[in-house]
Amino acid sequence: MTYRVAVAAGDGIGPELTAATQQVLDAAGVSIEWVAAPVGKAAAARCGEELPWESLETMRELGVVLKGPLIAERLSGGALVRAPEGTRTHPSVNNGLRRELDLYCNLRPVRGFAPVSGRYAAMDLVIVREVTEDIYSGIERSVNEDCGEAVKRITGQASRRIARFAYDYAVRCGRRRVTAIHKANVLHKTDGLFLRCVREVGAEYPGILSEDRMVDAACYMMVKDPAAFDVMVLPNQYGDILSDLAAGLAGSLGLAPGANFGETAAMFEAAHGAAPDIAGKGIANPISLILSGALLLDHLGEREAGDRVRSAVEMVLSEARVLPADLGGTATSQEVTDAICSACEKVTA
Ligand code: NAI
Repeated sequence: MTYRVAVAAGDGIGPELTAATQQVLDAAGVSIEWVAAPVGKAAAARCGEELPWESLETMRELGVVLKGPLIAERLSGGALVRAPEGTRTHPSVNNGLRRELDLYCNLRPVRGFAPVSGRYAAMDLVIVREVTEDIYSGIERSVNEDCGEAVKRITGQASRRIARFAYDYAVRCGRRRVTAIHKANVLHKTDGLFLRCVREVGAEYPGILSEDRMVDAACYMMVKDPAAFDVMVLPNQYGDILSDLAAGLAGSLGLAPGANFGETAAMFEAAHGAAPDIAGKGIANPISLILSGALLLDHLGEREAGDRVRSAVEMVLSEARVLPADLGGTATSQEVTDAICSACEKVTA
């Protein structure tokens, strides 16, 4: 069987890393027809728009997207110029993609690897981040020259939906504990609501241990004892910050995969950005996007192939002979990719 998957190569290091990921998924033995759906700078150079309607249509139709990182800046004019239902505005291309595809959950499983993660080698946690609201909803204004304000918007509907995703994920993946992260002692009306909703949903899952922690205490605990966490469910901004913290503990942003889920579409992308400082140098770590590709395979129902990719990455990292610069090695992105492809052939999932 051949799957059809949309691919948006992205900006900066994106094109190098999407090519690497396509090569590895091919080596994992899954046949995929890649349908180009450009967004970002490449799309703007071709048609003058960073978020072309045609690319969105392709993504909606296929329902599965592999996406390289994008330079996330305010869209020029913020508009989807050729959208049939009229002009809509988005704070950035990334934000626009999530909104247009109705993606509400950003899933970031972050784990350590021996020997590259040092004392965090045993860390194994999953961040389930709400991405439709909170302080990133783009409701922001200048009150005067010396004062700006932004709205932190939390709804019960979105909080219950992300909580249900987190608990269902925990059940499906054999995880034992879900921890809600908040600052409800200060933000009663917003984080307090989020926490109440997560508790309400959690009560329906007696087989899963439900906990909660304040975001500052959670950061401290993650550094001191990451084993305290299993699945974490968070509002948008805390999820953004804690996933980078977890990636840093694991050893590099280049190790942390990600996926975005909605009811009808799923988009797989690395946790890191477009890294313009190293774009085109051939030294970026491709592992984050490759592991996102493994999540894509799981989503397609090709769990065995997904496991093969994860085992291959683990093998290359544990041998520590072919390591990219961010993990202290000298290997190029292509050398790391080739090593993972060879390992794919050796491992049995
Ligand atoms: P970044 O994640 O692109 O880079 C931060 C640092 O990590 C840089 O020193 C970079 O060289 C390094 N780095 C990142 N990925 C790496 C990899 N795979 N291998 C080796 N080193 C890697 O974050 P930054 O610099 O804040 O943002 C750059 C652009 O990316 C911005 O426009 C930002 O908004 C955007 N961005 C896009 C995201 C997305 O598309 N999902 C997510 C985060 C940022």
